[in-house]
Amino acid sequence: MSIHKVTVSLDSRSYSVCIGSGLTRSTANGGEGDSLLLPRLRGRKGVIVTNQTIAPLYLDRVREWFLEAGYETHPVVLPDGEEHKNYETVQWLYRELFQAGLQRNGFICALGGGVIGDLAGFAAATYMRGIDLLQLPTTILAQVDAAIGGKNGINLAFGKNLVGTTYQPRVVISDVDFIATLPEKELFCGFGEVVKYGLLAGDDFISFLEMNRNEIRERKVQSLAIMIHSCSRIKADYVERDELDLLGVRASLNLGHTVGHALEKLGDFRDLAHGEAVAIGLVCCLTLSVAMELLSENARQRALKLLHSYNLPMVLPAEIEVERIIEEMRRDKKAAAGHLPMVLLRGLGDPYLEENIEAGLLAEVLEQCKKPQLDN
Ligand code: NAD
Ligand code: GLY
Repeated sequence: MSIHKVTVSLDSRSYSVCIGSGLTRSTANGGEGDSLLLPRLRGRKGVIVTNQTIAPLYLDRVREWFLEAGYETHPVVLPDGEEHKNYETVQWLYRELFQAGLQRNGFICALGGGVIGDLAGFAAATYMRGIDLLQLPTTILAQVDAAIGGKNGINLAFGKNLVGTTYQPRVVISDVDFIATLPEKELFCGFGEVVKYGLLAGDDFISFLEMNRNEIRERKVQSLAIMIHSCSRIKADYVERDELDLLGVRASLNLGHTVGHALEKLGDFRDLAHGEAVAIGLVCCLTLSVAMELLSENARQRALKLLHSYNLPMVLPAEIEVERIIEEMRRDKKAAAGHLPMVLLRGLGDPYLEENIEAGLLAEVLEQCKKPQLDN
C-alpha cells in the first residue's frame, strides 16, 4: 500500500504527516522498512510514552521498528484514562525521562490516542526546554486531529486542557493498522471529528464519506487511509494559516465543540464521550445556521444524514437544561467576557466564527435539537 503524505508547512518547524498500513512495523516483522520515514533526530536515544492498554498490543513491535532504524528506546507505560491527564502524571513522566538518561538531544515518541499525545507533547515541550517529539497516533481522533498541529495540554481540577503549549512534532506517523484493535465506541467517536471535517471542507469530502461509509465503518485500510489523509490535509491547512490560534481561522476547527464541551462538562465527562458530544454539537450548529438564514435546509438535511450514517447520536438529551448549556458556553476558555462565540456554516465547506450569538435564539435552537431533526 502506498504512503500518503501531507506536509505541515511552518518554516523551520515544518513536518510530514505520513499515513498508511505497515508503517511502524520493522522489515523483520513483515513491515515495509519505513523507518526511513523517521526525520533526522538530534540523538539516538528516546522514550516511548504509551499506556497499559496499548503497550501489550504495539510496544514491542514499535521498539523493534526504532531499533532497526538505529534508535534505542526506553518505554514509559502510563495508566489508561483521561483522569491521568494531569500534572501528577507529568511530574512522574519527568522523573522517568531523567532516570532513562534522556538528554537535550533525546526524543519522546507518543504511542497512543489523544490523552497520551497531549501528555507526551506537553512533556516534550517543557523537558529541558524542549526535546524532539514524534507522534504515533493510535485512535481515529488522534490520527485526524490531536496528533497534528502541536497543541498539547493537561487538565486541572477546575477545568479541562487549562495548561498546555503549542509545540510541533518532528513527524506524525498514522499507521492505519492500529485502528484494527480500537474499541467500537472509540471508532465512532473518531467519526464525529471526521464528519466535522466534511462540514468544514464541503462537497468533495462529504461525497467521499457518503460513498465509502460501509468500507470505513468496516475499517478497510485503503478507505481509512484516504479518509485520514483528507482530514490531515484539511487540518494542516488551518494550522498553517493560524498556528497559534490567534486569527480566528484555526478556531473553525472547533465546529460543534462549543456546545459539545458544554454537554461533556454537564454530564461530568461520563454521560457522553467527546465524539458523541461533538456530533450533537454539530447538529446544533447546523440548526442555528439555518435559523440565522446562513445555510439551506437541504444542506442541513444532507449533513444530518451523514451523521446518521456514521451511527452518531444526534439528539440533545432532554434532561439537560438549555440555560445551563448556555452558561457553560459563556465560561468556555475561548469566549471573551460574557460572549457566546460559535463556529457557524454559511454553506457546507464555508465555516466562520460568529463572535457573539444572540442568547434567545440559541436557547430556541437548543430546545429544538431535543427533538429528532432528520427528515424521514
Ligand atoms: P484516548 O487517548 O483516551 O483513547 C481512547 C481509548 O482507546 C483509551 O482507552 C486508549 O487506551 C484506547 N486505545 C487507543 N488506541 C488504541 C488501539 N489502537 N487499540 C485499542 N485501544 C486503543 O482518547 P482519544 O479520543 O484518542 O483522545 C482524547 C483526548 O485527546 C482528550 O484528552 C482531548 O482533550 C485530546 N485532544 C487533543 C487535541 C489536540 O489538538 N491536542 C485535539 C483533540 C482532542
Ligand atoms: N483540535 C483543535 C485544534 O487543534 O486547534
